[in-house]
Amino acid sequence: MNYIISGMKIDPFKLERYFAKYEFSAKYLLSSSDCDGFRMNDILGMATIEEMKLWQNLQLGYTESQGLPMLREEVAKLYSNISSDDMMVLAPEEGVFVALNCILSKDDHVICIAPSYQSLPQVVRSIGCDITYWLPDEERGWYFDPQELGKAIRPNTRLIIINFPHNPTGYLPSLHDFQSIIDIAKAHNLILFSDEMYRYLEHDSSLRLPSASDLYHNAISLSGLSKTFGLAGLRIGWLTTKNHELLEQMMAFKDYTTICSSAPSEVLGLIGLRHKEDLIETNIKKIKRNLSLLDGFINAHSHILSWSKPNAGTIGFARLKIVTPALDFCEGIVAEHGIMIVPSEIFDYGDKHIRLGFGRLSLQEGLDRLGEAFKGV
Ligand SMILES: Cc1ncc(COP(=O)(O)O)c(C=O)c1O
Repeated sequence: MNYIISGMKIDPFKLERYFAKYEFSAKYLLSSSDCDGFRMNDILGMATIEEMKLWQNLQLGYTESQGLPMLREEVAKLYSNISSDDMMVLAPEEGVFVALNCILSKDDHVICIAPSYQSLPQVVRSIGCDITYWLPDEERGWYFDPQELGKAIRPNTRLIIINFPHNPTGYLPSLHDFQSIIDIAKAHNLILFSDEMYRYLEHDSSLRLPSASDLYHNAISLSGLSKTFGLAGLRIGWLTTKNHELLEQMMAFKDYTTICSSAPSEVLGLIGLRHKEDLIETNIKKIKRNLSLLDGFINAHSHILSWSKPNAGTIGFARLKIVTPALDFCEGIVAEHGIMIVPSEIFDYGDKHIRLGFGRLSLQEGLDRLGEAFKGV
């Protein structure tokens, strides 16, 4: 697998290139991190008369760069201490790029959770910063120890990057540990970038953490409609922060990426968020049903797989107990059986794990097929 593209100023995003290769050709997707996308009819079918008017009378000109005010007001309801002025709307992945480019200079040191969604460390590397990876303990259910985070701080550390619920392990820290992370950032006056794309997908809502941006002035939180709300195709997300100096800089940077978000996406996103309970409930029900199917499957194939069952999000990271490296295994399985699974090599995390996704209705079909494939292992 060679993803070198000459002249690129940033290394290729292995996970996205892997998806680009297989997502629309493989028959069974067992590694997706989003829930099935809702249909246009689902969203417009929920709309009130007033919301329908917004949609039908929508003018397709440029939109407000910070984001549609009505959309921002709806987004603010997902937070306890964030108002519609404490945010900007942009595509989630764009949020990673914009925020990290505004926060960092090349002499900064960054502590970044790992394994992780590659853009989090990759954008940091592209700026030229030094990175220390904050690694979890698999034996303790992918536990990220805040003490280890504290030990990694250097005099030039500027930023800590976290992502909970975590891609790819599904790990969600306790409120106590989350607060410890915030306290460490505060004590050392560090910026905290908190990727919260899977927030509101806790399998038990009492485990939901506050947003980092609700708790700490120098935290920037990223969230969006792609995972929790099943609206990835809208490409709508947002950055929230109480740090308005940084917010201004990020808005100015967006003039070089998209300038403003798509008008139809903002209105559809607004309608979706106004009916968020229905969207979240549909997704949580599916996730819980799928999680028990997947857990049963892993237990029934315990000679090949083991995992720490996640308690949040749509994905988990299972250990592959075979000699074949995960990448070879996954490339064989997609070529021979049409089942796409992401290997840990894609996360630069050895060759012994695979990421499994349980946000899609087709999971059972994919598992049946995988069970057949396992007969030959
Ligand atoms: C942790 C994390 N952050 C950010 C993103 C980017 O979201 P989007 O693909 O909607 O831009 C993803 C997508 O998989 C993700 O898993």
